[in-house]
Amino acid sequence: MVKINSDYTLLRSSYLFSTIAGKVKEYEQNNPDANIIRLGIGDVTRPLTGTIIDSLHKAVDEMASESTFRGYAPDLGYEFLRSAIARNDYELRGCDISADEIFVSDGAKSDSGNIQEIFSKDCRVAVCDPVYPVYVDTNVMAGRAGTYDEESGKWSNIIYMPCTRETGFLPEIPSETPDIIYLCFPNNPSGSTMTKSRLQEWVDYAVRNKAIIIFDAAYESYIRNEDVPHSIYECEGARECAIELRSFSKNAGFTGVRLGFTVIPKTLSVDGVTLHSLWARRHGTKYNGAPYIVQRAGEAVYSEEGKKEIRGLVDYYMNNATYILNGLKAAGYEVSGGVNAPYIWLKTPKGMSSWEYFDYLLKNASVVGTPGSGFGPSGEGYFRLTAFGDADKTKEAVDRIVNM
Ligand SMILES: Cc1ncc(COP(=O)(O)O)c(C=O)c1O
Repeated sequence: MVKINSDYTLLRSSYLFSTIAGKVKEYEQNNPDANIIRLGIGDVTRPLTGTIIDSLHKAVDEMASESTFRGYAPDLGYEFLRSAIARNDYELRGCDISADEIFVSDGAKSDSGNIQEIFSKDCRVAVCDPVYPVYVDTNVMAGRAGTYDEESGKWSNIIYMPCTRETGFLPEIPSETPDIIYLCFPNNPSGSTMTKSRLQEWVDYAVRNKAIIIFDAAYESYIRNEDVPHSIYECEGARECAIELRSFSKNAGFTGVRLGFTVIPKTLSVDGVTLHSLWARRHGTKYNGAPYIVQRAGEAVYSEEGKKEIRGLVDYYMNNATYILNGLKAAGYEVSGGVNAPYIWLKTPKGMSSWEYFDYLLKNASVVGTPGSGFGPSGEGYFRLTAFGDADKTKEAVDRIVNM
C-alpha cells in the first residue's frame, strides 16, 4: 500500500500569512469603509521598467520565428545571462566567480528550498531566529528537523541562532557546531546587515569546522553602506565553504516573472565530491531551465539603461523605508533595519505581543504588517513593516501609526 512522506505531516500549518489574511478579511467585513494599507507581505508593487518590458517583447517576437525560436534552455542557463551575472555581480566587485559556476533558476525560493537535497539527512542545520521560514520547512520536509516543541517553538535537530536587540539582530557562533548554516543578509525579516569583517568571521568559522554556509543575498541591491558586502565571495575563503543564492525579485521586480540563480564555486567540495557536480546533476535531472524570454529580461537588468532603471526602483522603495524608519523613530518607536534593506523591524510598544500589536494596528490605523513571532521565537515582541508599498500609501500608513 502506498505511503506518504510522513515528514510532510510534521510541518506546522502555514499559520502566519493565512492567519493574517483571515484577520484582515474579518476586519474588512466589519469595517467595509476602512481604507486598509498593506505593509505586510514582501511583494513588490512597482511595474517592470521600460528596458525589461522591451526585452520581453523582443524575446517573445523571437519565439514566433523559425530562425530565432528557442526550445529547452541549457541546463545551467544561457551563456549571455550567466556571463552578464559573472561580470556585473562578481567581477566588478572583485569576486572570483566564473560564468560556469552560476546556475540560473526560477528564483531564490526554490533554490533555497531545494539546495538541502544535496546534503546528507544527518547534517545539522543552523538558522537565524527569526528566519525566512523556507529554510526550516524544507528541512522538515527532508526529515532533518527532528520533533517540534510547541512550548519553545523550536525543532529538536535545528540549531537556532537568536538574533535579538542584544546581538544587534545578528547571529552569534552557536555552541553546537552545525554542518549547514543558513545566513540571509540583508536580512528578512529584521533588515539587519553584516559588515564584511563580521561575515569573514563566519567564513573562517565554516572553513575551520568544514561547514557549508548557504548565503541568501536576495536583498543585495538594497545595500547602501560601503562596509556591507554584496556577496559572500568578497570574503576570503568563501570559495571553500559558501553557496550563494540571488534573486531578480526584489531588485528588478521579477516576483511574478521568476528568475534567480545559485552560485556554487567549483572549489567547494565535501569528501572529494564537488557540490557543483551534485547541483549540476540535480539541476539537469529535475529542472529544464528558466524560460528564454525571462532570461533575456534578466540580461536587460545588466544593461546600462536597465541598471539605471533598477536603481530607480530600489530608490523608490528605500525612500519608503526611510520615511517609515524616521517617522516611527520620531514617534518614539524602537526601530531597526530600513537602511540597507526594505524591511523595518520595530519593537512592539507597551509590552504588546507581536499578534496583539497586529490587532491593535489593524483596529486603530487600518494598517497591516507582519507579526515578528511568525518568523521564529526570537521574533516575539517585534513587528515587520515592508517598504514595498506605494509611496503615498506608505506615508499615509506611517502618519496613521504615528497619530494613533
Ligand atoms: C530571504 C528570501 N529569500 C528568497 C526569497 C524568494 O525570492 P524569489 O522571489 O526569487 O523566489 C525571499 C522572498 O521574499 C526572501 O525573503
